[in-house]
Amino acid sequence: MGIAAVPSRSRLYARFLMPPRTILYTGKGGVGKTSVAAATARRAAAEGRRTVILSTDPAHSLSDSLGVELGPDPVEVSPGLWGQEVIAEAEMRRNWDRVAAWMSGLLQSKGVDSVRAEELSVPPGLDELFSLLQIKRHWDREEFDVVIVDCAPSGETLRLLGYPEVASWWVRKVFPWNRSLLSKAAPIAKALEIPMPEPELMDEVEHLIENLLAMDEILRDHEHCSIRLVMNPDRMVINEARRTFTHLCLFGYLTDAVIVNRVFPDEVSDSYFAGWREQQSAQLETVEEGFSPVPVLTARYFDREVIGEGMHTRLADDLYGEIDPSGLLHSGMAREVSTEDGRTVIRIRAPFTEKGEVKLQQAGEELLVQVGEARRTIMLPSGLARRSPSKASFENETLEIVFEDRDAAEA
Ligand SMILES: Nc1ncnc2c1ncn2[C@@H]1O[C@H](COP(=O)(O)OP(=O)(O)OP(=O)(O)O)[C@@H](O)[C@H]1O
Ligand SMILES: [Mg+2]
Repeated sequence: MGIAAVPSRSRLYARFLMPPRTILYTGKGGVGKTSVAAATARRAAAEGRRTVILSTDPAHSLSDSLGVELGPDPVEVSPGLWGQEVIAEAEMRRNWDRVAAWMSGLLQSKGVDSVRAEELSVPPGLDELFSLLQIKRHWDREEFDVVIVDCAPSGETLRLLGYPEVASWWVRKVFPWNRSLLSKAAPIAKALEIPMPEPELMDEVEHLIENLLAMDEILRDHEHCSIRLVMNPDRMVINEARRTFTHLCLFGYLTDAVIVNRVFPDEVSDSYFAGWREQQSAQLETVEEGFSPVPVLTARYFDREVIGEGMHTRLADDLYGEIDPSGLLHSGMAREVSTEDGRTVIRIRAPFTEKGEVKLQQAGEELLVQVGEARRTIMLPSGLARRSPSKASFENETLEIVFEDRDAAEA
């Protein structure tokens, strides 16, 4: 009898470990991400769950919010609650310095000047991506029941979506991956004066890519991981949140709640604010309609800053009431592949995008989908790679891409 195959990481998690419930809070700058994330983490800890809150925003304010000086490793804040401020630059150095040095050398050997070569060898946003790898660390260790992530403002976080996909593409196509190929290429490289990567460096890159892909898998685990979009009842903020929502849907990340923070409460009866209150209630309706069926949670504009345990408790009471803050508040998502009458149909739910905005471009097993400004490459199952999409339509907020049965297409 053969030795049983080692299960893949995802099956390993599902079978042996209970992954921590992981919630990422994102949104435009200053809307209250840190406050909402901290309030959620406090409530989860108070309900008896071992909880860690980590900030990946290089401009940390979590220490101030929690009133405890945090560091790059989890620090206990109160019983059951740990806090962590990931130092993006340190993560970056640890994960990327050696690769960057090799790439920079390669580019310089091709005549790129050293400043530009250094710049090119460090893609923007990589540091936050490496910070997010901390989520994987918490999934690998069984220390916490709940992982709350206070992300950098949405613009930055969004740039990172798709990186793991890009990284795997890079490995398969650009990096001289196969070792035997590498040793064959060595003399040619030498003749061309191209620096070859050391085997240890290749191991490092392989490990890094594995980690990134595992993290992507975690972020797409709709049973345990979701994103919550934080916004204020303000037209421009809501519009940006809608764009973020579209991107998240397109990339297959689950948004299980949207949070409208800083709503003027009924007590604010001053005539000066009457106009504001009217506008805010109209904006709240827009949010309810626009993000439906994703639940909308609201919190009032408090009479003071949201700092420390007392204010976090008030904010959590407003937001969640009787709801379990670490529960999965909405499921049902968003990208499916099905076969119907010999045709294969990929459906991606992507609200808020206009019909005319969808563009498709296929290159082998990669399908580039562009919806407005959001672009993503979908890796097609190999059976589909040899076929071209026969139809793409956008209806009921769902992008539908149809691949005809091969025989039917050839007939
Ligand atoms: N509901 C609220 N009522 C009153 N003040 C609030 C409320 N929510 C947040 N604040 C305050 O607003 C300020 C910004 O909040 P916070 O730092 O949580 O936002 P953020 O989205 O994390 O900002 P950044 O993008 O800079 O990280 C803080 O001073 C916070 O105490
Ligand atoms: Mg913040």
